[in-house]
Amino acid sequence: MAWTIFSFLSLIFFSFTLFFLLSISSISCSSSPSGNSLRPLDPGRTKSHNGFEQWLTWNVEKHRRRSALKQELTGSQRPAANATWGTLLDWKLRYAEANKIEVTVSQDGTGDYSSINEALDGIPIFNRRRVIISIKPGVYREKISISRALPFVTFQGDPLDPPTITGNDTASVAGRGGLPLRTYQSATVAVNAHYFIAVNIRFENTAPHDVGVIGQQAVAVRVSGNKAAFYNCSFIGSQDTLYDHKGLHYFNNCFIQGSVDFIFGYGTSLYENCYLNSVAKKAASVTAQKRTASSMASGFSFKNNVVTGTGQIYLGRAWGDYSRVVFSYTFLDKLVNPQGWSDWGKPKRDSRVYYGEYKCSGPGANMTGRVTWARVLSDEEAKPFIGTHYVDGESWLLI
Ligand SMILES: *[C@@H]1O[C@H](CO)[C@@H](O)[C@H](O)[C@H]1NC(C)=O
Ligand SMILES: *[C@@H]1O[C@H](CO)[C@@H](O)[C@H](O)[C@H]1NC(C)=O
Ligand SMILES: *[C@@H]1O[C@H](CO)[C@@H](O)[C@H](O)[C@H]1NC(C)=O
Repeated sequence: MAWTIFSFLSLIFFSFTLFFLLSISSISCSSSPSGNSLRPLDPGRTKSHNGFEQWLTWNVEKHRRRSALKQELTGSQRPAANATWGTLLDWKLRYAEANKIEVTVSQDGTGDYSSINEALDGIPIFNRRRVIISIKPGVYREKISISRALPFVTFQGDPLDPPTITGNDTASVAGRGGLPLRTYQSATVAVNAHYFIAVNIRFENTAPHDVGVIGQQAVAVRVSGNKAAFYNCSFIGSQDTLYDHKGLHYFNNCFIQGSVDFIFGYGTSLYENCYLNSVAKKAASVTAQKRTASSMASGFSFKNNVVTGTGQIYLGRAWGDYSRVVFSYTFLDKLVNPQGWSDWGKPKRDSRVYYGEYKCSGPGANMTGRVTWARVLSDEEAKPFIGTHYVDGESWLLI
């Protein structure tokens, strides 16, 4: 009986959601200057179709697959009473996308603003709309920190000539009051806001890293906001290039370069179709993932990437006791240390970390020399990591 009522309520809820979405859709169609506000970043899809319908279909399909996956994973045929029926769409994001605006930044004075920081200063705090900052080609020497009060910001560059945002602060450079910046403050671009998107942008930190010298951590981008996505971006640095600090993050078709621990933090992130280029001179690690407790939903998943470059690198070293990293369908070049993974000299971490490999290829994927605690994942074990469901994508990814 209780079950029947539950199903009935679910049905009502679903119908209501659908009605709600359709109403929003009509608003968005009439208010959008381009006539299609919902998939602004994917020209292939917006050209010939009704973007909203496609997006909805896409989300429903994702949701269906995710629910199916959840059931498979829990072995239960019946969704629990607290099943995430309501997470189908993220309504704050829908509102923001339906009311988006665009401003331009150009160093030659032909845009709305001549620097990225000016454009950010022009956004009202507690912003609820998607603000697309279209950044014209050029090298922008700016230190940027997007405050938590400015969600829904998009940095959009020209795919044929992406703008570069550059800096060279390091952890040991003196900041305000003469105290060293430390790694956290060294970032050229720091994203503290939720729902950030960057497309076709080159992020740099040009400070060099010399082997054995301390205080040279030099972050190009720190992402501390939730639900952030990066498409076609480059992250160029040396030690600690990309501080994948915390939150759900998605990276697609990105180029990420560094020497030591160049992707680090405790984000829950999916990296798809990315190119990870090591410029290490000797032993180093691609990742330093910082999951510190077994209860934390934190970890990096790399799907269909390439790992190449110089030095001899580990795929990961355990910054946190429960560090979690999975590489799947990835080409691992010969620079990968045969051991594969490092416990950072703390053997108690061997039984706690989760370091998995699944269907990787290339000379670095040979498991012969691997540490005994590295895992070769089964299909079942790999499943949670190898789709956008890993980052709850169906509720917030627009592309
Ligand atoms: C950082 O860049 C500035 C401006 O180009 C330069 O003056 C400074 O020497 C650089 N600092 C380091 C540590 O390379
Ligand atoms: C990213 O670049 C690819 C070509 O490499 C292009 O097809 C795609 O549309 C770009 N994506 C976005 C979001 O601009
Ligand atoms: C893997 O490495 C071992 C030891 O170096 C070697 O004997 C073996 O042939 C390699 N396997 C492949 C498939 O290359």
